[in-house]
Amino acid sequence: MRSFISAFLFLLFLLRYLSPAAAGRPDIILKTCKRCSDSSPNVNYSLCVASLKSVPRSHRSDLRGLGLISVKLAAASAKHARSKVKKLLKAKPRSHYTKSCLKACLELYKDAISMLKASAGAIKSGHYDDANIWISSAVDAPGSCEDGFGEGGVKSPMVKEDKDLFQLAVIALAMTALLG
Ligand SMILES: *[C@@H]1O[C@H](CO)[C@@H](O)[C@H](O)[C@H]1NC(C)=O
Repeated sequence: MRSFISAFLFLLFLLRYLSPAAAGRPDIILKTCKRCSDSSPNVNYSLCVASLKSVPRSHRSDLRGLGLISVKLAAASAKHARSKVKKLLKAKPRSHYTKSCLKACLELYKDAISMLKASAGAIKSGHYDDANIWISSAVDAPGSCEDGFGEGGVKSPMVKEDKDLFQLAVIALAMTALLG
């Protein structure tokens, strides 16, 4: 996650100096996060502001740019969850049930990552309805992962990752809905 974000930030840093065009746009992070949290009760306003602010390019992005950034942040979170679940599987879980839950979560995260990738492409080409459907499916992934553990009365080792992924995906979804 960290190295992905560093690479991402570096790329944004480069883009900033290679594209003189966008200078001087008003900062729309606060306004956009407010609209997102007004439209969706699941959106955490302070997380929305903090996560977008951590990406320098956000400050000079338009709504579509913010949508793309939020999708990329959600994808980074899904990748982080995927690598943790892979590690847990490698560590040979003791119970068969836990192992099957982890495997199910791995598939869910993989799907979420490809859905989020596809939705970034859809946003770039203005297909916001497609993006919305694909991001919605990524929003559901962490809850489905948690449900598996819950149904067997097993404590989930993915609570933190699932919460993070849910919150970031919900922000991406609310932003794409504003684009629609
Ligand atoms: C919202 O996000 C902030 C900042 O990340 C966090 O401290 C807070 O616990 C979050 N609130 C909820 C309800 O998850």
